[in-house]
Amino acid sequence: MPRTVYVNGEYLPETEARVSIFDRGFLFADGVYEVTSVLDGKLIDFDGHAARLQRSLGELQMANPTTREALLEIHRELVRRNDITDGLIYLQVTRGSDGDRDFVFPAEDTPPTIVLFTQDKPGLADNPVARKGFKIISIEDQRWARRDIKTVQLLYPSMGKMMAKAAGCDDAWMVEDGFVTEGTSNNAYIVTQDGTIVTRQLSNDILHGITRAAVLRFAREAQIRVEERPFTIEEAQAAREAFITSASAFVMPVVEIDGKPVSDGNVGKMATRIREIYLEEMRKAAV
Ligand code: PDD
Repeated sequence: MPRTVYVNGEYLPETEARVSIFDRGFLFADGVYEVTSVLDGKLIDFDGHAARLQRSLGELQMANPTTREALLEIHRELVRRNDITDGLIYLQVTRGSDGDRDFVFPAEDTPPTIVLFTQDKPGLADNPVARKGFKIISIEDQRWARRDIKTVQLLYPSMGKMMAKAAGCDDAWMVEDGFVTEGTSNNAYIVTQDGTIVTRQLSNDILHGITRAAVLRFAREAQIRVEERPFTIEEAQAAREAFITSASAFVMPVVEIDGKPVSDGNVGKMATRIREIYLEEMRKAAV
């Protein structure tokens, strides 16, 4: 069964969906995206993703082709039409096309392109890897300087995943000026020996993760100490625990960094607890 996808106002079989070869998303990576997870047929933190989409578009002076309400309806319709119980919804908005290639932005009335599609992931929240944990490598952060904008220019993160794979690992943490920025597609955390969760503070250096915001809120509510500051790979290797967060992995323990086990190399208690709290609370609040 081909998926039903959404392109510029129409629901179409994926085999019939079309975007211009002149689309600026294709030619210049001039577009932004969001990934929202679906658990039990409901959207996790939809409002967080809708708000960040608006922010990314605003930072790039790109028009928002939709409203929060219309976007919610499209998400729900795609969940229905594709019969998704657990999975992901990918959304992309680009600056569209005025029928040629030009570095200069097209006229302001050029319609943006909006595309959404589903990814069916049965048992997304019961991922067995969460019981095993991720092995990661560190790599230099060679991305552009506006990582707070969720653009579709993901070539370097994609290369980072390939470097991790070649090293027999699951992912890579990127390092700039000696400090970890974030994972290739997730935010990075450690738990210090005294039980404090440490993650880099928000700035243009990292994506302002929607999962990060929720996890830090739940941690503080559970009276767990949180410090938002940079940390090094050496500090992470000497930490009690490490983990990552994203809309698709939720909270994923990290058990090895550059070949060194974190503590005894087993999944940590704090990461497991935070994952449980996150999934329980977010399922309750899902729409
Ligand atoms: N990635 N940092 C980067 C560089 C990311 O690409 C992502 C998300 C995150 C986590 O953000 P959030 O919690 O809002 O998902 C942090 C998505 C899942 C992706 O590219 O598939």
